[in-house]
Amino acid sequence: MELKEIILRRRSIRKFKAQEVSLDILNEITKYALLAPSGRNSKPVELVIVTDKNKIREIKKAREGAFSFLESAPACIVVTADEASSTWLSDASIVATYIQLLCVDYGLGSCWGHAFERYQDGISVEESIKNLLSIPANYRVLCVIGIGYPDEIKDGHSLEEVNNEKLHYENW
Ligand SMILES: Cc1cc2nc3c(=O)[nH]c(=O)nc-3n(C[C@H](O)[C@H](O)[C@H](O)COP(=O)(O)O)c2cc1C
Repeated sequence: MELKEIILRRRSIRKFKAQEVSLDILNEITKYALLAPSGRNSKPVELVIVTDKNKIREIKKAREGAFSFLESAPACIVVTADEASSTWLSDASIVATYIQLLCVDYGLGSCWGHAFERYQDGISVEESIKNLLSIPANYRVLCVIGIGYPDEIKDGHSLEEVNNEKLHYENW
């Protein structure tokens, strides 16, 4: 699919069919995503692919409301990065975006669930996920991307949505 079409089609999908997503596809998506650029080419991002339903349910509990889309997601990818890199947050965001765009190319839906600097009942969502998945202390958790075959239909985006006032030429 053409990149522009993928960008238009990408929507946050929060309801998924029970159909599993093959590990082959998840592997391909993550490998392409890890080709994303990173500051000083530091490549601090590491991904955890989760397909175990019990684990996905436990991750959902780390942020019940905002992660509700994990209820039906047959897979998720946890986007982490080594905080030793000063650009880890940007690098991880780019990889997460690549993952969401790649999902469209595979006919999959996805939704970003934010973990970075989010708390539930005063407990860090990042720490809850790190404990669940044995993620090393020096790694940060940006988000959990729920992935699956869409069980809801959403219109794609269109260029008409873009507010031209947000564009500035030469000066603000
Ligand atoms: C940084 C970031 C954090 C987000 N966090 C969540 C979240 O925790 N839970 C959720 O359901 N959606 C989350 N989203 C999805 C947004 O709500 C969604 O992208 C936005 O409403 C636009 O809709 P669209 O993705 O269909 O274009 C997040 C998106 C981004 C980029």
